Amino acid sequence: MEQKISIAIDGPAAAGKSTVAKIIAEHYSYIYIDTGAMYRALTYKALQENIDLKDEEKVADVLSTIIIELQPSEDGQIVLVNEDNVTEIIRSNEVTNNVSIVAMHPKVRDEMLKRQRLLAKTGGVVMDGRDIGTHVLPNAELKIFLRATVEERAKRRHEENQKKGYISDFEQLKLEIANRDKLDSEREVAPLRKAEDAIEIDTTALSIHDVVKKIEDYIEERL
Ligand code: CDP
Ligand code: CDP
Repeated sequence: MEQKISIAIDGPAAAGKSTVAKIIAEHYSYIYIDTGAMYRALTYKALQENIDLKDEEKVADVLSTIIIELQPSEDGQIVLVNEDNVTEIIRSNEVTNNVSIVAMHPKVRDEMLKRQRLLAKTGGVVMDGRDIGTHVLPNAELKIFLRATVEERAKRRHEENQKKGYISDFEQLKLEIANRDKLDSEREVAPLRKAEDAIEIDTTALSIHDVVKKIEDYIEERL
């Protein structure tokens, strides 16, 4: 039988994780699991319910009431929360600027970890996030850590916004990304960190194609 491995892709915001993860998952007919979308979906629900996002118990209670589904689609992925399609709304600025607070709570991370491992139990997965190589899939056969300078990452998000016709302020984006990186890197539980056995790729000067090619070479070595 054809061997299927698990691939963990971590890194800071806009390093290119989801873009390359989707391409690789499609190429190998693997399942793509965007763990950031799960934290975003919870943040969206918690904002909707108007609770204090710093209140761990309240946020964990919201999580216990929601089913988050990630379904493959032509554009990559559809995110459902209790069967509502939240794919677009979870990318709003309000969610983006609050998600790192929600993701800090140990009880939330604990539950997310269980759900994410369950989704990955079949193998043949590409999972992206912040703590996949370090916590969620510590035994993944391939671990990748993507980096890029904050300027380059803000530029990518800025161009993405402009393409979608959204108002976008480059300096503001840079501050927001740096702030999120800081919160994600400095939290106590499962911070953003490269796993010791992860392969680091600096994508600052690389095209999406270059990054995909590098990762696929590492996959081929392991298959
Ligand atoms: O796409 P982008 O890199 O902007 O963010 P994302 O991958 O959608 O993740 C949104 C946020 O969820 C991150 O900034 C983290 O606060 C949190 N997150 C996390 O804590 N652990 C993960 N495995 C994935 C995301
Ligand atoms: O998932 P993550 O937040 O790490 O990043 P992404 O959403 O996959 O990528 C952010 C943007 O950067 C997308 O618009 C990609 O097309 C772009 N990108 C790029 O220009 N060059 C790369 N090497 C990787 C991504």
